[in-house]
Amino acid sequence: MTVACESGDVSPTVLITGCSSGIGHATALAFNERGWEVYATAPDRSSIDDLEEAGCHVAKLDVTDPGDAGVVADRIVDEQGRIDCLFNNAGYGQIGPLEELPTEQLREQFEVNYFGAHRVARAVLPYMREQGSGLIVNTSSVYGRTILMGQGAYASSKWALEALSDTLRVELSDHDVDVVSLEPGPVETEFGERAIGEIDKLERTGAYEWFYTLFDTRRYGRRLIDRALGHVQPEDVAEVVIEIAESEDRPRRRIVGPWKYMVWLGYVLPDGVRDRALELLKRLP
Ligand SMILES: NC(=O)c1ccc[n+]([C@@H]2O[C@H](COP(=O)([O-])OP(=O)(O)OC[C@H]3O[C@@H](n4cnc5c(N)ncnc54)[C@H](OP(=O)(O)O)[C@@H]3O)[C@@H](O)[C@H]2O)c1
Repeated sequence: MTVACESGDVSPTVLITGCSSGIGHATALAFNERGWEVYATAPDRSSIDDLEEAGCHVAKLDVTDPGDAGVVADRIVDEQGRIDCLFNNAGYGQIGPLEELPTEQLREQFEVNYFGAHRVARAVLPYMREQGSGLIVNTSSVYGRTILMGQGAYASSKWALEALSDTLRVELSDHDVDVVSLEPGPVETEFGERAIGEIDKLERTGAYEWFYTLFDTRRYGRRLIDRALGHVQPEDVAEVVIEIAESEDRPRRRIVGPWKYMVWLGYVLPDGVRDRALELLKRLP
């Protein structure tokens, strides 16, 4: 894959956040194999040494750090002269009943999943506008358009990210910069392990025992998180991201995996019916 620029045909350049594991890691390798110049990033630079060995450029980028994204974007343009694609992938799932979730934890969830994506987009957009082309793929989730009890913080951050993506797309249309919302269903990564770890931060009231049963790893494992029925592998998501990046006819949003029916149901079912279905699930134990 090449892109035409003043100096002739060159390899396109992609910046990826959250590459230490899961979807970001697999996507960095997939872009690298396709001949892209890959800037793989993570909060801890040493966690992506293997990607450097594989041929990626690597850099420290914590999406909550006000300076990191700008430093990496400037470096890419210094070294490659352009930024063709930003894959905003960094994120995690703060689970827990909303009443038991300290507001500070909700703020942190938005800081990474929402403000982080905005911060990195702002760092690359001046360059994309100047070159008159570019693509931002924001990693939302099926929970960007539907909900599940116990995942309200995560879903809220992804719903907000959906609004950001849709608005940006229209605002940027005069500059030939495209924005796509990626909506994976469950993907087997480190996501579930970290989400379970977030339970420790909850302030238990005793009123939501169904939550602690549903998310009890000894009982259900990670079957309501990244290992749910119909989960896919990070490489499957990487394949879709490459397809989007290399296509000239892109979708505005793309669901990955069989959970598209869940999103569809979220849309077509009246709210009352959806709520009753979820209440039944709550009683699963
Ligand atoms: N797995 C799923 O079921 C699923 C489904 C739908 C959507 N998603 C979305 O897919 C994206 C990737 O998740 P994953 O499943 O691949 O999980 P993962 O294996 O846990 O990877 C998450 C990545 O995000 C990084 N990250 C976390 N906080 C960060 C920060 N402040 N700055 C920069 N990077 C940060 C992590 O880096 P550290 O290791 O250094 O913390 C890690 O590299 C997330 O946006 C997630 O919401 C996942």
